[in-house]
Amino acid sequence: MRFSALAILAAVPLAVDAYPQYAKRYASLNAEKRGKYPILRRAAAPYSDQYPYTGAKLDGQAGTGKGGVQVPAPGDTDHYYQDPPPGAFRGPCPGLNTLANHGFLSRDGITTYTEMVAGLQNVYNVDFATAVVLTLLGFVFDGDPVSQMLSIGGEAVDRTGQHGNFTGEYGGVSQHGTFELDVSLTRNDFYLNGDAYSLNGTLFGLMVETAKNTSTAENPLFDFNAMALYRLQQYQRARVENPWLYVPQLVLHNYGAATFLYEAFPSSAKNNTPDLETISSFFGAVQLEDGTWGHVGERPPPNWHNRVIPMNLADVTNGIDALYAAYPVDFGANVNGVWIPANQSYTPSTPSRKRQASGSGGDTNLICGAFQEIFITAQNSPQPYAMLEFILEKATPVMAPYNCSIPGLTSSS
Ligand code: HEM
Repeated sequence: MRFSALAILAAVPLAVDAYPQYAKRYASLNAEKRGKYPILRRAAAPYSDQYPYTGAKLDGQAGTGKGGVQVPAPGDTDHYYQDPPPGAFRGPCPGLNTLANHGFLSRDGITTYTEMVAGLQNVYNVDFATAVVLTLLGFVFDGDPVSQMLSIGGEAVDRTGQHGNFTGEYGGVSQHGTFELDVSLTRNDFYLNGDAYSLNGTLFGLMVETAKNTSTAENPLFDFNAMALYRLQQYQRARVENPWLYVPQLVLHNYGAATFLYEAFPSSAKNNTPDLETISSFFGAVQLEDGTWGHVGERPPPNWHNRVIPMNLADVTNGIDALYAAYPVDFGANVNGVWIPANQSYTPSTPSRKRQASGSGGDTNLICGAFQEIFITAQNSPQPYAMLEFILEKATPVMAPYNCSIPGLTSSS
């Protein structure tokens, strides 16, 4: 079965005339200016038969899904922690920063589709279909579909594109207003200082306090209860502190990120406990003598083992629904300090969907719904046709077992 990008573009209303004039800026980026930035790019460290992790290779394909593996594997020095090299890109996602600090993604933070799909499977034991969904979500918001490269930090078009072949102005994962939105866990709202990607130690400390209150002061747990309450507190804080707060329904993605603290980061060698040692290590948060929190490179704690059962999309979406249902909040925006509710509502489904067999990715509706969101978002990217071709190439084989019917997506043969 082959889907057609042109068919989608023809079928779904698309403001074709609104294409950004992407070539403009880079036409003026002369060689002298480009020469200022050293090309740091090194590929991710390759996988070897000796250290296979969950079996994914740098080929965009599925691994075995067999988790419970120590990361990094003792002796696999290629995947040991290193500080980011000078000029490297890091961003708002502690999960991706950790991958780059260990060479599962290129250590300079300029990564590729295949590195990311393999890294998510091998390190966090993310199910293959879910790894593809998460990676493509990153690309439709912030990545280059032609070079198939993505900055996990700020804009790096002079590295993800090539001279004479700049296909769009892609922001990178730090780009605010795309995948990165207000009301994060430990990152500022963009409005406050223009930096929505660095760890804010004060916010990390507040998250610790919440976890102490929902579990115990001696052993704070970053579990469902802590994350549900802390997300509410962050929302309430932002409503007051950020006069230009913007909370579209898309902010539900941030609830998904909150599930990762208790779904992806806990060590299976420690009974999957989302404790402070684990969470602070992945966030790169270190407590200073005066009790405040500073930042070092993100990494798994010592002797960390990934999940035994792959994390699938149902784990994430059920988590989003349950976290939101615990403390439902209004979507909307502060406009110069005045709250304007959005004409949007979200009814979380009762998280009763049964977990499917490992390797299944979750249920069909979830997978197909996620791909539908990806296709719709692709149409707003700087190069919608190229992005749709890229998505079709990667998504079609993954969607095939689910028989997804994406509105506007017709198939031929
Ligand atoms: C299993 C893999 C992943 C894990 C464990 C993970 C973990 C996290 C966590 C814990 C946060 C919240 C940080 C905070 O609010 O302080 C976050 C945020 C974020 N992640 Fe990831 N992530 C993963 C995959 C990805 C992928 C594949 C992408 C895109 C390519 C991505 C992009 C982002 C972005 C843009 C944010 C910022 C959202 C916001 O706060 O506005 N993540 N991630």
